[in-house]
Amino acid sequence: MSILDKNKVEHYNGISTLNNHSILKRGVRTMKYKVEVLTGIRPTNDLTIANYLGAVMPIIELQAQGISPVVFVADLHALTDNEPATIRQYIYGVVADYIALGVDPQKANIYLQSDIIGEVTTLTTLLSRHISVAELLRVPTLKDKLKANTRPETANTLLFLYPILMAADILLNRARKVPVGEDQLAHIEVTRLLARRFNKKYGEVFPIPDVLQVKPLRILSLKGEGKMSKTNPNGAIFLTDNLKTVARKIKSAETAFEMIVNEKLKSHILIAGKLAKTESEREEVDAIIQEHKTGKPVMGRFKQLFIRIVQNFLAEFQGKRAEIMRDPSYIPSVLEKGAKIARENAIETLQEVKRVLWLT
Ligand code: TRP
Repeated sequence: MSILDKNKVEHYNGISTLNNHSILKRGVRTMKYKVEVLTGIRPTNDLTIANYLGAVMPIIELQAQGISPVVFVADLHALTDNEPATIRQYIYGVVADYIALGVDPQKANIYLQSDIIGEVTTLTTLLSRHISVAELLRVPTLKDKLKANTRPETANTLLFLYPILMAADILLNRARKVPVGEDQLAHIEVTRLLARRFNKKYGEVFPIPDVLQVKPLRILSLKGEGKMSKTNPNGAIFLTDNLKTVARKIKSAETAFEMIVNEKLKSHILIAGKLAKTESEREEVDAIIQEHKTGKPVMGRFKQLFIRIVQNFLAEFQGKRAEIMRDPSYIPSVLEKGAKIARENAIETLQEVKRVLWLT
């Protein structure tokens, strides 16, 4: 092994804290958190109201508290199970959605993952050595992501690398907190494990990220069959739905018998309360529900109000989004600025990683 060669060690010794021939640790520069909050979105489908309330709203609330979040479009993660042309089609749309929903590109940094593909894939490769095939096969989401009747062993390897790719995103950014839903918790665990193992071996390179627990909201399908999801479009309200479609979907929503507040109705009340633009609308919702609890037949009125609230929300959102899309150079300029900042930070992290691995 040339690295153990005495001359070589002495040579390296001059630029590192190498102090004996068996410990080949290179002097490490402890890295600090760089990004307070990081979140990634796969550009694979139109967003629903549930995505907005669960994933986007918490980011906007953080931004309102003065925290500058970093939001990136995870197009490489989307490649695991989507065609490139399909992904391409959604990228600008997702950025427009986030901005129209309130993510402010002046405060938040928005970038496209593949704009730093070199850095992301390099770190993915360098991290891969620190987790075993068996450990990856145990990541529960990998199993879920595979089509039924496909065995993990036959997954395409990019899907298999999904958790490491995600760790690379987080660690490149040196993010302190990652707000994720329950389905992504296992990936954050993999990220923390990789960072700890790497640090243990080479010195404290990576600051360890934490999950930012976002309170899970129980947003159900309007029909009450499970969670609101794009796979059940009649029970889901998409941000792109036109106002007539919304009215139709809400009219055929399931509600509850007089006096009863079941899970479906709770979910409707939650959506209406969160989307209402004014306090007086929220009070109207409360008042109707009070009447409902005393046994009055008010579900028809409730639905009218629910429709009005959602329509107002969507009309405002869609107006803003159309305005954003009207200038074809706007989103590219946001992403360009984002990539520049993300790249600088990624390069800084990667330089230290490569240095401790004797790759530079
Ligand atoms: N896997 C995430 C999802 O499907 C997206 C994602 C990719 C992500 N990289 C990330 C989220 C890094 C947070 C941090 O939703």
